[in-house]
Parts: sequence; C-alpha cells; structure tokens
Amino acid sequence: MAEMRKPPTAPRHVAIIMDGNGRWAAARGRPRAFGHRQGVEALRKTVRAAGDLGVEQLTVFSFSTENWRRPAEEVDALFELLRMYVTADLDKLASEGVNIQAIGRRDGLGRDLLEIIERAEERTRDNDQFKLVIAFNYGGRDELVRAAQRAAEAHDGDLSGLDEAGFERFLDTKGSPDPDLVIRTSGEHRISNFLLWQAAYSEFVFMDVLWPDFDEASLKMAIEEYAMRERRYGGVDG
Ligand code: IPE
Ligand code: IPE
Ligand code: MG
Repeated sequence: MAEMRKPPTAPRHVAIIMDGNGRWAAARGRPRAFGHRQGVEALRKTVRAAGDLGVEQLTVFSFSTENWRRPAEEVDALFELLRMYVTADLDKLASEGVNIQAIGRRDGLGRDLLEIIERAEERTRDNDQFKLVIAFNYGGRDELVRAAQRAAEAHDGDLSGLDEAGFERFLDTKGSPDPDLVIRTSGEHRISNFLLWQAAYSEFVFMDVLWPDFDEASLKMAIEEYAMRERRYGGVDG
C-alpha cells in the first residue's frame, strides 16, 4: 500500500538572499561582474520555477544599503544589471501577469533607473498572477527608520496609539504577506539586514549552492525542507 503522506504545503511567499556571485566568478578566474551577470540568469530561472511550484510571491535581495561599500565599478555593474533585467524582461513578465514592485530607498538611484522601476510598477500594477518584489538599495534598518518617520508624519508626531498593524502600513512591503520561507545561498548563515521586521516568523533555509548555480531543483529542495518544518509562532504544537 502506498505510504500515506500529507501533501507538502507550498510556501506562498518565498524571499531569497541571492548570494555568492563573486565567489562563483572567482572560482572561474573571472571578474565579479561576470558572476553578477550569471546571477541574472539564475533569477530568470527562479521566477519561472517559483510560478510553476505554486509560489505566489518572490522577493529577491539584489542590492543592499551596505553594498555601496563595494568598489564603484562593481556598484555600477549591479545598477546596470537591474536596468537591463527590468528593461529586457518587462514585456514578457507583464504579459504573464506578473506584478513587479521594488522596495528600498529610492533616493540615490538616479533618474533613469527610477524611471525604469516606476514604469515597470505602473505597467504591471493590475497584474495578479504572480508578484515579484525586487529589494534594491534595500536595508531592513533603513526601511524601519523611514517607516517610523512616515508614521510620525502621518500621526502628527503622536505615536502613542500605534500598534503593529498600524506600523506595518508604513513599511515598503505594505500589502504583501510576510515571507513564509527565506532562502540564503552561498553557505553564509546570516540575514545581512534583509526583511528584519517581515522575517520575524519565517522559516530559514541556508544552502551551500552559489547563486549563479541556483535552479528549479534548488528551489524545490528548499520548498521540500520548508514543508517538513513545524511553524509554531510562539504557541504549542497543534
Ligand atoms: C550576491 O553576490 C550579489 C550581491 C550581494 C549584490 P556577492 O557579490 O555578494 O558574491 P560573494 O558573496 O562575494 O561571493
Ligand atoms: C547580501 O549579501 C545582500 C544581497 C544579496 C543583495 P552580501 O554579500 O552583501 O552580504 P554579506 O556582506 O556577506 O553579509
Ligand atoms: Mg556576498
């Protein structure tokens, strides 16, 4: 008789810290930008795979507020890649019903990149087949400070009545569910300032694969690991 197994529960929202591009390139004796380019290919594959696996939202960390510490040449390459990715894939993503959003600090991005991001958001605003959130120039602490400033402004400086749900409305991620699963590639076991508020009860899966090598099989593996976890949210076993 076939073994009775509970069908694995697919995470609705998966967030990914796409790490390891530089090491992937170094292992091939190539410049770091080569790894970032290959990382975009992995992102394309992952967006497709996530939809196929029943995930509804994917949030990807592609440039942190701390990544400004890198050499200007690498920062430029990362900006150029986002520009290229959004420009090249917008038609396809839009026609597939993908809703695109960016989170993070918008000042300091440059007029042309801002326009590309705003155009993508505007054009895909009413799409509801899949949500792709790109965290660019994003830092969790930065987001929380900006949210606090916006909250104070909206409440005329009196935050005494503010609760968690009220505060969340000022986060960049307002309207999105919290990530069920956060994946980090490259073997590092840290959060690096990603979704500090939103990941409070996320399940974490750390994988040794370098981001450019990440593919549908890797995503499937992470989702299978997630399905075996028991989420308790501070309570006791159901
Ligand atoms: C991830 O790869 C991409 C970004 C952080 C922008 P890295 O560039 O951090 O690659 P490693 O971690 O140095 O290998
Ligand atoms: C996190 O990776 C940021 C992104 C993936 C965009 P980093 O490579 O910047 O993180 P650290 O420096 O290893 O913590
Ligand atoms: Mg890294």
